[in-house]
Amino acid sequence: MKIEIFELERAQSLYENTVEYNLTESGIHPYTLKELLTEEEIGDLLSLRLGYGQTNGSIELRDAVSRLYPGADPDNVLVTNGTAEANFLNIWCNIGPGDELLLMVPNYMQMLGIARSFGATVKPFHLREELSWDPDLEELKSLITPRTKMIAVCNPNNPTGAVLSEEAMKEIVRLAKEANAWIYADEVYRGAELDGKETSSFFGLYDKAIICCGLSKAYALPGLRIGWLAGPKKTIEKCWSCHDYTSISSGILGNQVAALVLQPERRMKVLNRNRKILKENLTALEEWAGKHKDLFSFIPPKAAGIVFVKYSMKINSSELMTKLRKEKSVFIVAGDLFGMDHYLRIGIGSEKDYLMAGLNLFDEVLRDVD
Ligand SMILES: Cc1ncc(COP(=O)(O)O)c(C=O)c1O
Repeated sequence: MKIEIFELERAQSLYENTVEYNLTESGIHPYTLKELLTEEEIGDLLSLRLGYGQTNGSIELRDAVSRLYPGADPDNVLVTNGTAEANFLNIWCNIGPGDELLLMVPNYMQMLGIARSFGATVKPFHLREELSWDPDLEELKSLITPRTKMIAVCNPNNPTGAVLSEEAMKEIVRLAKEANAWIYADEVYRGAELDGKETSSFFGLYDKAIICCGLSKAYALPGLRIGWLAGPKKTIEKCWSCHDYTSISSGILGNQVAALVLQPERRMKVLNRNRKILKENLTALEEWAGKHKDLFSFIPPKAAGIVFVKYSMKINSSELMTKLRKEKSVFIVAGDLFGMDHYLRIGIGSEKDYLMAGLNLFDEVLRDVD
């Protein structure tokens, strides 16, 4: 088996914690437990026995997750170690050599590498900037063959922040049904919409739809490492038996905190806090980009903690990323890592002063690039 380097995650792993300004984090300024929970709840955590817990996720957490998906119950849910493990399990359990995976791009590139390492063929279908990052559905249609096993989307999308329209979702479901293919929807940014209107889920739109989500992005809790798969019970059971081989279970502490976070009132409080941060920072980024109109342009994201910025300088995006990091200790992910040079992904989930300090250092670099 040939395992490709996951270039995007590798770059983030290497640099995001070693620079002074990490301006590419795709999530939102993380919570502390103190900010999130009451003293009584924290007290309960202190006396929690640190056993394995229920390996497919605690009943309380699976119950809370299932309430996010009308028609679901706890057996429709498998709790995983972050959304990354959910993505891995989906490919490992459901895709084999010779299968074709039609993948929305640009995307968080994890599934591309995993599917190829398991011998599948990955065929990209594109979000088009000229369509305000809507998907090219004619292209998707043209890629379908009898070998098409799955259509995978990331909605809301990393890195563009685009959200599929209801019509586009319906058409993707129609095409998947026609091909008897699975739909896999990475919905980890669901809940991080700037206008507060929650993105529709693919759950329940089709009997072959599998959803992944988690608390790392819209909920600003990546350190809990809580993700999940939601889908048909038989498929979830199959993924659970694969999960026995990967990590047995997610952490019992994370399960307990996550169940508290998903209590309806607290969930809304968390999502509203995060949307406020994103809105303020998007305005700040727009003002900054407005001072460099000839250099930068972007379609404002509808959701997610990131903006995919196009630039007009000649410098290659990986070179620009390295220059910024080495000269100013600012880290911004290069479009190259999404296969799209002359773009940069800028995170808007951090504290505003931090974002602005990093962007001011970017200004200094701009003075000497063509
Ligand atoms: C679209 C998408 N899916 C999954 C992940 C992995 O998230 P987690 O931290 O929950 O494993 C990321 C991380 O950046 C992501 O952007």
